[in-house]
Amino acid sequence: MYPSPAPPEVDSTTSRLRLRLANSKDAELLLDWRNAPSTREASHTSAPIASDEHMRWLEQSLANPDRRLYIVELDGIPAGTMRSDFEDPGYLLSWTVSPSMRGKGIGTAMVRMLIATISESLRAEIKTDNRASVRIAEAAGLRFIREADGILHYCRDAIDHPPSPPASPQQAAGNEE
Ligand SMILES: CC(C)(COP(=O)(O)OP(=O)(O)OC[C@H]1O[C@@H](n2cnc3c(N)ncnc32)[C@H](O)[C@@H]1OP(=O)(O)O)[C@@H](O)C(=O)NCCC(=O)NCCS
Repeated sequence: MYPSPAPPEVDSTTSRLRLRLANSKDAELLLDWRNAPSTREASHTSAPIASDEHMRWLEQSLANPDRRLYIVELDGIPAGTMRSDFEDPGYLLSWTVSPSMRGKGIGTAMVRMLIATISESLRAEIKTDNRASVRIAEAAGLRFIREADGILHYCRDAIDHPPSPPASPQQAAGNEE
C-alpha cells in the first residue's frame, strides 16, 4: 500500500533535478535498477538481465541515433532513468526511478521535464497494475488510448508550439561523455 497523501518532495519546477544523457559509466547503476524486483515486475521482460547482456544493450543503446537514454539526478545523485525511442513520427517513452528514491515525486517530475522538451507525438506502454506509472503518464498530459494484453497504451499528440526551454533533449541533458 502506498503510504502518503503528502505533497511530493520534488516537482518538475525544482532546480534539484537535472537531466543528462547516460554514458558507459552508468552501466552498474542501470543494471541494479533494471534488476530490482519491482522494476522487473513492471517491465515487458521480467527475467533478470545478466551483466554481459546488459553491457551489450547499453553499448548498442548509446550508439543508437534513434534512442536517447537519460539519467536524472537529484542533488547530484542518480535518481532515475528515462528512455526515448524515435519511431517515426514520434517517441516511445519509458522510465524507472531508483528503488531507494521512489515515492518522492521524482517519477512525475522527471517525465514532465523530458516531455516539456519534445514537440513530436509521444506514447508509453504501462502494465495494467502499474498505478504509479498511470498517475505519472496522466500528470504529464498523456491520455489513455486502449488496453491490450495487460498493457495500457497512453499517448500525446504532437504539439505545434515550440517546446518550453530547454529547447531540445540534448540541451536539457548536456552531454557528459
Ligand atoms: C513507477 C515509478 C517510476 C514511480 O516513480 P516515483 O518516483 O515513485 O513516482 P512519484 O513519486 O512521482 O509518484 C507518482 C504517482 O504515483 C503514486 N504512487 C507512487 N508509488 C505508488 C505505488 N506503489 N502504488 C500506487 N501509487 C503510487 C504517487 O502517489 C503519485 O500519485 P499522485 O500524482 O496522485 O500523487 C517507480 O515506482 C518505478 O521505477 N517502478 C519500476 C519501473 C516502472 O514501473 N517503470 C514504468 C514502466 S512504464
